[in-house]
Amino acid sequence: MSLSHHLAIGVTRTMNVPFIDLARLTKSMKSEVLADWSAVFDKTEFVGGPRVGALEKALCADLGVDRTIACANGTDALVIGLQAMGVKAGTKVAIPNMTFWATYEAVAQLGGIPVLIDIDPNDLQMSLPEFLCAYEAYRFDAAVLVHLFGWASPKLADFRKFCAEKNIALLEDGAQCYGVKINGVPVLKGSTVGTTSFYPAKVVGGCVDGGAIFANSEALEKLIRSLCNHGRSAHYSYERNGWNSRMGGLQAAFLNHVVARSGEIVADRRRSAEWYRKRLAGTDKLNIFAPPAGQDENGYLAVFTVADGVDVNAVTDGLKARGIGFGRTYPETMDSQPPAVDAIKVGTLQHSRKFCKSALNLPLFFGITEPELEACASALQEVLRGL
Ligand SMILES: Cc1ncc(COP(=O)(O)O)c(C=O)c1O
Repeated sequence: MSLSHHLAIGVTRTMNVPFIDLARLTKSMKSEVLADWSAVFDKTEFVGGPRVGALEKALCADLGVDRTIACANGTDALVIGLQAMGVKAGTKVAIPNMTFWATYEAVAQLGGIPVLIDIDPNDLQMSLPEFLCAYEAYRFDAAVLVHLFGWASPKLADFRKFCAEKNIALLEDGAQCYGVKINGVPVLKGSTVGTTSFYPAKVVGGCVDGGAIFANSEALEKLIRSLCNHGRSAHYSYERNGWNSRMGGLQAAFLNHVVARSGEIVADRRRSAEWYRKRLAGTDKLNIFAPPAGQDENGYLAVFTVADGVDVNAVTDGLKARGIGFGRTYPETMDSQPPAVDAIKVGTLQHSRKFCKSALNLPLFFGITEPELEACASALQEVLRGL
């Protein structure tokens, strides 16, 4: 009997492939991490400590940023980063209408007013022309640029220049862009304040929730460190109202091992993302997205949409029947979420709405094998042929 067997007419199942399998990486690090954890335990390095300091240094070197402050998760990183940049109740903050909800939530938790901007339908990042039009209409004081899907806007330099000229506080949400380079330069180099998430499924992920904030000045670093630590100026003196958002030694020890392998992780994921694009090029009823010219992606996601008129749920049902994992990043825009009733919506938001209706992702993780990639690609083609 051949490798594949037929479950039902037209349904070929060669192997099951999960959407994500973190164990491909963690298995290979287990003994060294456990040894490190044992040392952390013996030294009771539970909040802060030398391993957190070492991680902050390693992140500066890896990401080309000046200063790093580790914190509890990527959402806190956004809230605290925005607060440090002056966002408060009533501040209008421009954000893309398609992103992870945390971008919206961070603005709202500070009492800010999200100004929702459409995406560019080619690169899927916030649209610069829409951003400029929105500024004319709403004069926002802050903005969050999200480097989504493992690449960034080809207009990044223009966004930074415009914001600097108009005194708009620009935070760059880098939760999905670890290792991305533009013309060889790390994407967050040159940002004023940037953030990342170490949610375990990220390209560089932790063993529990985690995050970091990046800053380009000593004054910002000092303020952010204080905000992450109850607004402290000394142990029992509080200069401001802050948060408790800190990292401990167990997480830092784990992350130091992942960061040491980030080059290998990114290269492996990038190879798989490129493999899919080559293998699926020309597939009927499928649109394939790629990073803009001059950018090295990090392989965070394999990004597709199904063509107009194709029901994406029929496609995901077909993948499920064949044992193939899938994602839909993202199935809904910010403006469609109930709390967004109070947000400012700019223009028609048509491109973000259209993308979300048809978004589809195939499995992509460190260590995915070529036979697994082939199983995913051929299953998708079989499903699309049958529609
Ligand atoms: C773009 C973006 N921003 C923010 C976050 C929030 O990070 P966390 O889950 O660590 O709070 C995430 C991921 O989860 C994200 O993808």
